[in-house]
Amino acid sequence: MSIITIATSKGGAGKTTLAQLIGGTIAERGYTVAMIDADYNHSLSDWVRTFATYPITVESELDETKIIPLAERLSDTHDLVIIDTAGAATQATVFAIGCADLVLIPCQLSSADIVEASKTNQLIASAAAMTRQEICARVVLTDYQPKTIIAGHVEEELAACGLTVLPTRLHRLVAFKEMTFTGKAPKSGHAAELVSGMLDDIARLDALPFMAMKTAS
Ligand SMILES: Nc1ncnc2c1ncn2[C@@H]1O[C@H](COP(=O)(O)OP(=O)(O)OP(=O)(O)O)[C@@H](O)[C@H]1O
Ligand SMILES: [Mg+2]
Repeated sequence: MSIITIATSKGGAGKTTLAQLIGGTIAERGYTVAMIDADYNHSLSDWVRTFATYPITVESELDETKIIPLAERLSDTHDLVIIDTAGAATQATVFAIGCADLVLIPCQLSSADIVEASKTNQLIASAAAMTRQEICARVVLTDYQPKTIIAGHVEEELAACGLTVLPTRLHRLVAFKEMTFTGKAPKSGHAAELVSGMLDDIARLDALPFMAMKTAS
């Protein structure tokens, strides 16, 4: 029903972590989730197959010609499809962006993260021009250290590049690393509150329409 692509050409920015947090939490809430792993490192599919404790469909797909048909097929049978992309702009990333209802660009507190977030945003603009439709994109600040000078600086730089940041910042928390071993998205404490806040932000962008349907019914 809804396709969220997670992309930035910066390696290690938090793409797979974000995919695990969103997919794990939405699956935990009882919705059907499918994930497409478009990264040759296949860390997301390894995580789902090895650890994930709830049913999540996962497919590895590196062939750019197969990304859109696969996303559409999975979207017909699942509430949410998440596409995790590689840490470098690939053809598969372009198509994953082109079919998305929302693109999330994770960004940590470094200059290289901002540069690659900005390049990714330009790629999204090109994909939108190519498909002649708007593609909604938001930066997700992650591994975030609030009330630091660097955090303020990064936010100013992102704004100067014309990038819009999701209101909820994912702080640097050990729970987000533990999840890589437990296969469970955080269910309590600060980590769970932040994830919940982020999902509310995403829902406000109309990228989780199935949640609104359940609330309304
Ligand atoms: N909010 C956070 N708090 C703590 N650690 C984090 C947070 N976000 C990401 N990390 C850590 O940053 C590292 C890189 O994250 P991740 O593997 O998700 O990045 P990636 O963008 O998928 O990398 P790649 O480009 O290699 O696929 C991991 O060790 C992850 O645990
Ligand atoms: Mg990754």
